[in-house]
Amino acid sequence: MGAPILVIENLNKAFGRVQAASNIDLTIDEGVLTSIIGPNGAGKSTLINMLSGSLPADSGRIVFQGTDITDWPIHRRVRMGLCRSFQVVNVFPELTVFDNIQIPVLTINNRSRRMLRSIFKETAVRREVNEILEKIGLVSEARTPASALSHGDQRVLEVGIALAARPKLVFLDEPTAGMNPLERVKILDNIRQLSDLGQTTFVIVEHDMDVVFSLSQRVIVLHHGEVIGDGSTEEIRNNPRVREVYLGEEVMV
Ligand SMILES: Nc1ncnc2c1ncn2[C@@H]1O[C@H](COP(=O)(O)OP(=O)(O)OP(=O)(O)O)[C@@H](O)[C@H]1O
Ligand SMILES: [Mg+2]
Repeated sequence: MGAPILVIENLNKAFGRVQAASNIDLTIDEGVLTSIIGPNGAGKSTLINMLSGSLPADSGRIVFQGTDITDWPIHRRVRMGLCRSFQVVNVFPELTVFDNIQIPVLTINNRSRRMLRSIFKETAVRREVNEILEKIGLVSEARTPASALSHGDQRVLEVGIALAARPKLVFLDEPTAGMNPLERVKILDNIRQLSDLGQTTFVIVEHDMDVVFSLSQRVIVLHHGEVIGDGSTEEIRNNPRVREVYLGEEVMV
């Protein structure tokens, strides 16, 4: 735990005159639950989009587990263990919870060229789907269509979908968006437990400061596309630049 899993060097992205990412230099450490915060339009989603491969960077380098992946397409990154979830819910609503997880599990299994007899493979896939459902606490909803889940559970399901790729590193863009406090507690407990298992490193984009400060081991603050703070929750709370940006928001006081 603690070794760099992702190194970001001098990453830039402009949309017309808006510099959405400005000379971003960061290292994400393995096993450290990290949050990315910043006001609306700070460049959080832009950064995640570049890291996960859905948006090309203008310049800079992204190195994942020692390999330069800057120009890699999404699917190649996913295969290497780098996944993300989206700011808006992104499940297949008409499919059951089980099937929503089974699809990515099957995709991954087909790619790994293991010569399994189909019957064994079927059992293995089912077992893997059930393991993920257990990890995210949705076993009892396996047969429920995703559309019938609460909003909170749909977001939990998304985490499960991301886990199906057996990722080393997962970016979650506002996992608690639109959730009530109870749902929030559930998904956060989930993420904390999954992080503690140590197989996956989580990086979370989050607006809710209570969530950020209770969950994170490290906080990165963006503002106008720049990193203006990076450290422990205590360091971020006491960072004058960060306090200035969040001035008036009592959560920081
Ligand atoms: N596809 C795009 N085209 C043009 N401008 C964009 C695009 N995507 C983002 N931007 C701009 O880049 C800046 C950063 O946006 P981004 O969505 O990364 O912010 P964010 O920190 O995720 O904000 P939020 O908290 O609202 O989700 C904003 O000024 C935004 O308007
Ligand atoms: Mg965003």
